[in-house]
Amino acid sequence: MIVNPSELSPLAAYKLATSLIVPRPIAWVGTQSKAGVTNIAPFSYFMGVSSQPPSLAISVARGRNHSIKDTAANILETGEFSVSVVSHALCHPMVQSSLPLPPDVSELVENDLDYVQCDTISAPRPLGAVATMECKLVHAHEMASVHLLVGEVTRYHIDDAAVQVDEKGHSTARVDILDPIARLGGYDYCRVTEVFAKRPQK
Ligand SMILES: Cc1cc2nc3c(=O)[nH]c(=O)nc-3n(C[C@H](O)[C@H](O)[C@H](O)COP(=O)(O)O)c2cc1C
Repeated sequence: MIVNPSELSPLAAYKLATSLIVPRPIAWVGTQSKAGVTNIAPFSYFMGVSSQPPSLAISVARGRNHSIKDTAANILETGEFSVSVVSHALCHPMVQSSLPLPPDVSELVENDLDYVQCDTISAPRPLGAVATMECKLVHAHEMASVHLLVGEVTRYHIDDAAVQVDEKGHSTARVDILDPIARLGGYDYCRVTEVFAKRPQK
């Protein structure tokens, strides 16, 4: 099949792209408005972009009537956000937190999520998350239908049980403890159920 994307409706374009770009890791993004209202929502247009300095990107689409979502509005206003890894155990509250709520209502409070304030930024982080990255906004790029937001990681929080030290003394995260879920097309998700190693041969 050959597809010309310019001939697709917005919904058809979304469905095709999100069924092809899989699996997508999920950033559970915590923010706070200038007025102090906390917010959390998931974003799977999410990627790491640099390790030095550690940086990541999320893309926040505009909502109905081209409205800006609370997450993008808060990040553009404060320049700060947290990104938590979504473990399988957090699937239900993560999905519930994607339901739209008015800007003055906190998804954390509505969903009974325990959270604390981050250390280096003014944003919440859910206590149930195995790992969270505190981020400061370094680039904001407005595109036709999304804001592409790049953040530099200013602090990592990782449960001790999820940390392992390799033979060279470097700390890494244990994928079995992180138990991350990833988004597929539609309402489908997946877990990491098979891991294999493959080194390049010289
Ligand atoms: C797993 C998952 C991934 C999502 N990924 C995105 C995404 O990459 N970009 C986006 O704009 N919305 C995404 N959404 C929808 C937002 O989470 C949703 O619009 C949410 O209400 C935004 O909240 P806010 O208005 O408080 O920012 C996703 C939803 C789910 C459940």
